[in-house]
Amino acid sequence: MRAKPSLVSSAAQNAAEAKPPLLTVNKVGRIFGSAESGVTALDGIDMAIGKGEFVAIVGPSGCGKSTLLRLLADLDAPTSGAITWTSGQAGQSSVAFQEHRLLPWSSVLDNIMLPATMRRRPNEKDRNRALELASLVGLEAFTKSRPAELSGGMRQRASVARALFPEPDLLLLDEPFGALDALTREKITGDTEEIWLKQRFTALLITHSIAEAVHLADRVFVMSPRPGRVTHVVGIELERPRAPLVGSDQYNALVNDIRAKLQDPDHG
Ligand SMILES: Nc1ncnc2c1ncn2[C@@H]1O[C@H](COP(=O)(O)OP(=O)(O)OP(=O)(O)O)[C@@H](O)[C@H]1O
Ligand SMILES: [Mg+2]
Repeated sequence: MRAKPSLVSSAAQNAAEAKPPLLTVNKVGRIFGSAESGVTALDGIDMAIGKGEFVAIVGPSGCGKSTLLRLLADLDAPTSGAITWTSGQAGQSSVAFQEHRLLPWSSVLDNIMLPATMRRRPNEKDRNRALELASLVGLEAFTKSRPAELSGGMRQRASVARALFPEPDLLLLDEPFGALDALTREKITGDTEEIWLKQRFTALLITHSIAEAVHLADRVFVMSPRPGRVTHVVGIELERPRAPLVGSDQYNALVNDIRAKLQDPDHG
């Protein structure tokens, strides 16, 4: 089934499609090991991501989602095909991972500023930006706390704030909320959408939660494994913010449609 377009998001979608994409993934493949006996983690991946677009990838374990994310982050190189940035030079990307990877001995503020301190001494501007981001993710009262003093959801917020710190061209989220309980996860998903609505960064989210993908993404890419391929691309044309729509018939229809596509890659 097709989602009924809503005025807000279809207008945004059309605008995004009219502009040149931020980057294009063209027939990308990644084989681990030798061509004869290796694992084809990705095969013929095509995707164009618009500037300011939020895309999500869903697919079973092992279908190559993290491999694709590593290629986009320039942490690995494709064995075939190419990733091309429209600007002509590779943009800066930052990643928030499933495990938060915060430094345990540093405060929340210092953790958020880490992208700056890795290269130089932080200055007043860095500190102000970190404070701004802490407030954006709802951690303004915890800037001096250490990760161990925070809840799991708060740690993930700090990790997302750190990924946003360098104002990346592309924010990559690899299951950042996967380890959280269902209620916290739903809350943080809504918060992430609010932050995105304020900042409109370009984001790619990998998730095992179809509901999370429908809540956040403009388009959901559905992948199948062995070899990892994109089987469907589903446009989510629900108005934003979407928290009030969670659980509605319209929302559930999209979740069910994507679930059917995941279960049967030949699904229409
Ligand atoms: N460095 C590596 N060396 C060899 N094989 C690898 C490597 N990284 C990934 N693979 C293989 O590539 C395939 C895709 O792995 P990937 O981690 O991208 O899957 P995924 O979709 O992220 O899975 P999950 O949902 O479980 O995180 C798997 O078969 C995996 O074994
Ligand atoms: Mg993975």
